[in-house]
Amino acid sequence: MAAIEALDIQGVREQFPILRKQVGDKPLVYLDTAASAQKPQAVIDALHTYYTSEHANVHRGVHHLSALATQRYEAAREQAAAFLHAPSPREVVFVRGTSEAVNLVASSWGQQLQPGDEIVVSAIEHHSNIVPWQLLAQRTGAVLRVAPVRDDASFDLDAFEALLGPRTRLVSVVHVSNAFGTVLPVKRIVELAHAAGALVMLDGAQATVHGPVDVAALGCDFYAFSGHKVYGPTGIGVLWGREALLDRMPPYQGGGEMISSVSFEGSTWAELPAKFEAGTPHIAGAVGLGVALRWLMDLGRETVAASEASVLAHGTQRLSEVDGLRLVGTAPDKQGVLSFVMEGIHPQDLATLLDEQGIAVRTGHHCAEPGMRRFGIDGTVRASIGVYTTTGDLDALVDGLQRAARLLR
Ligand SMILES: Cc1ncc(COP(=O)(O)O)c(C=O)c1O
Repeated sequence: MAAIEALDIQGVREQFPILRKQVGDKPLVYLDTAASAQKPQAVIDALHTYYTSEHANVHRGVHHLSALATQRYEAAREQAAAFLHAPSPREVVFVRGTSEAVNLVASSWGQQLQPGDEIVVSAIEHHSNIVPWQLLAQRTGAVLRVAPVRDDASFDLDAFEALLGPRTRLVSVVHVSNAFGTVLPVKRIVELAHAAGALVMLDGAQATVHGPVDVAALGCDFYAFSGHKVYGPTGIGVLWGREALLDRMPPYQGGGEMISSVSFEGSTWAELPAKFEAGTPHIAGAVGLGVALRWLMDLGRETVAASEASVLAHGTQRLSEVDGLRLVGTAPDKQGVLSFVMEGIHPQDLATLLDEQGIAVRTGHHCAEPGMRRFGIDGTVRASIGVYTTTGDLDALVDGLQRAARLLR
């Protein structure tokens, strides 16, 4: 195997204008990438260029700008397909983000479910990968089943296998947990689910930012991610699905763009992927996302993954030195997230004192309430890392925590 090049993190940081910001008189230490990643200059420039000299509505016009905007929009789709190693850009549907992607599959694919059919999720899902299935279960009489995690928040494959049965129609699980950082054994999950005759949807909202994703190699049926978590704009994301499945699924929303013809007697649908993209899309968002994905791929997906793994290992080690701190989520395979509680101190109080020192972390249940309940807590402090995170950022976190503990205890 070829050696993985070291990432020039300082060089990367220079490409993110926001990282030069001061919070009060302190330099910003941004440890909230799991909630939303910051944007490199290349993405900011692409949005500026698009709105300055390339904007018109897509697909409908013969004029120069419409053709240009369409070309940019479709090039972004090709970039997203390459990013996911998808066989065809026809399988890439632009959506608002991961939440909308799950809702799309639940609303459209889910229409065929019968009472008693089963959908399996894991115990550490983001609410976006729970609630759409609950709504679908209410509509159809389908049943939601929950695959447990172990005490270190790792996925319990044996228990998962035991849950699969003749009524399992879909397994929809997170690829990397936003609350605990666990990397799920998704390839094995896909094999087991397929052997049971079920489809698999993967929530890649976190996984896509940290390392390479290859939907063809994973063998999954649907994959979702959000642009804003992979250094792209907000309001744009991707649902990837196998062409044969998407082809058979009914439209999600009606409107312009998604039709082949319309009459008052009835309408027919456009080909993929337009069938799922009703209305004027977030063109600038897609353009920005395409640039973000290209930017990330140019850094080297393996290079980024290796760099982040060593920063995460450093953070894990340093946090273990803090008195009374307990990491929640210590699975052997983790990415991007350090979630913890500190004895006798409320996470919110900690975060407030950290913020005074310019350190941005997140507290609470991280939209994973059932996951928190599994560990008997209401919430954690979460420090999450991205491509620009340095070991120095995590050292600053540790110093900040120690200072906060002195003040609060
Ligand atoms: C694992 C996971 N799934 C889904 C989502 C929802 O993403 P979005 O809010 O971009 O739709 C998030 C966002 O935090 C997430 O971390």
